[in-house]
Amino acid sequence: MSKFYLTTPLYYVNDEPHIGHAYTTILADVLARYHRSSGYDVHFLTGTDEHGQKVQQAAEKRNVLPADHVDEYVKRFQKTWNKLNISNDDFIRTSENRHKNIVKDVLNTLYKNGEIYLAEYEGLYSVSEERFITEKEASDGNFKQIKKIKEKNYFFKMSKYQNQLIKHIKNNPEFILPKKRANEVLGFLKNPLADLCISRPKSRLSWGIEIPFDTEYVTYVWFDALLNYISAVGYGADQNKFETWWPANFHLIGKDILITHSIYWIAMLMAIDVKLPKTILAHGWWLTENEKMSKSVGNVIRPLDLVDKHGVDSLRYYLMRDMVLGQDASYSYDSFIKRYNSDLANDLGNLLNRVTILINKNFNALVPEYGEFSNQENDILEFIDSSSKTVCKLIHNLKIHEAIEIIMKGYRLLNKYLELKEPWKLVRKNKESKSSAATCLYVALNVFYKNSLFLYPIMPDKINKITEVLRQNLPVDIFNVNFIKPGTKIGIGNSLFPRIDTK
Ligand code: ME8
Ligand code: MG
Repeated sequence: MSKFYLTTPLYYVNDEPHIGHAYTTILADVLARYHRSSGYDVHFLTGTDEHGQKVQQAAEKRNVLPADHVDEYVKRFQKTWNKLNISNDDFIRTSENRHKNIVKDVLNTLYKNGEIYLAEYEGLYSVSEERFITEKEASDGNFKQIKKIKEKNYFFKMSKYQNQLIKHIKNNPEFILPKKRANEVLGFLKNPLADLCISRPKSRLSWGIEIPFDTEYVTYVWFDALLNYISAVGYGADQNKFETWWPANFHLIGKDILITHSIYWIAMLMAIDVKLPKTILAHGWWLTENEKMSKSVGNVIRPLDLVDKHGVDSLRYYLMRDMVLGQDASYSYDSFIKRYNSDLANDLGNLLNRVTILINKNFNALVPEYGEFSNQENDILEFIDSSSKTVCKLIHNLKIHEAIEIIMKGYRLLNKYLELKEPWKLVRKNKESKSSAATCLYVALNVFYKNSLFLYPIMPDKINKITEVLRQNLPVDIFNVNFIKPGTKIGIGNSLFPRIDTK
């Protein structure tokens, strides 16, 4: 069976999970579910980044030990992912021993191989992003809490991988997606690459993984956190498991952490002679009023507030539909409501309602027997056939919002078809017209069913409800399913997506 390993960033445990974090995690979940539904063996990893200055400061502020602080805060992520129906196979915390041991092993190996040295350094440090930045980055204005720091530290010889990095990115067009992000990284690599400072003196930071060959220091949080992608799948501990999953198919990240993933991480892997991930996929930002949503700006939308009010699947749907993967998107409650009402309440929900009620009232709740198909039926059947191929292909090409558009077009076509045929009138006329209504409802119900299954990875809960109404089991392959047979008893699917009243 083909393997598919995908990861999200490890979120800072301190942050409140907001729509931005939810987006990456839901996107990963959607891709994981699509792959599971088309025969892949999937390993989906997420987790939390628990060391570093920000966490230490937050714990100090609350007068608790960092270890207790993270134990408490990690629950917010776990609870949120639970509520969002995230099907991750593993959740890694960087404070776990299985991770810390590997970080120490890697440090030892690199030190032994002469890839790490001690030196005095003076540079600009962004506390908010937990890394040293260049003068140019500082002047670009994307970093907050910048201070000048001078101290003795350990350095990883990252600079020596500059050419190898450039070559790999140029030779592998799928390595960094979208393409414009690859160009950004190549642009960054036009300037000489510095070595990476990978330690922090304990006098400044104690909450971290101790450097095994110098206990006066802890490891820099990024050097620590990036290694999760291999420590979680058994690197250095369970060779069999590691070979099963590594290299990862996708590292999903936001564009804010493109450089750390495409340069630091890759150079680290080159240094320990481990295969490189296949694709780093950097998506854009969710903005509120044109500003990046972030806790430090104070403009965050909490996913659980929306979920409690309007259900998990409407949020999953909105986030997947309204962001073009790779570009920025604007969140507003207004656009959420509009999207919900037009796509889910009107096009999808009403259709299910209409068709199942007609079948219940006029055909004893049994899927009707069909007669001969006219051009209209044949057109719709052709459409659904071709969309199962198109949708599948679009998803694999990461064009999720386009795939959704095709699916929605399916519902709109069906609605038009019903308006044209008016089966609610046909059932009342004579025997012949009733059999034409039967054919119409048979086709409408089955095309609705097929079309809805395509949405399963995006709205697992609601699509499960639909299969329950239609007394079907969820098929193993959502793109390949038979029509429901005439004579099958079905239920009524009302208020699956009740309309949200906007005064
Ligand atoms: O950077 N729009 O963690 P983090 C879209 N711990 N996505 C957003 C977003 C927004 N407004 N805000 C956050 C870290 N994200 C490190 C990562 S990895 C080994 C260590 C998402 O809590 C997006 O995926 O700041 C972004 O890259 C990530 O959250 C940053 O999460
Ligand atoms: Mg961040």
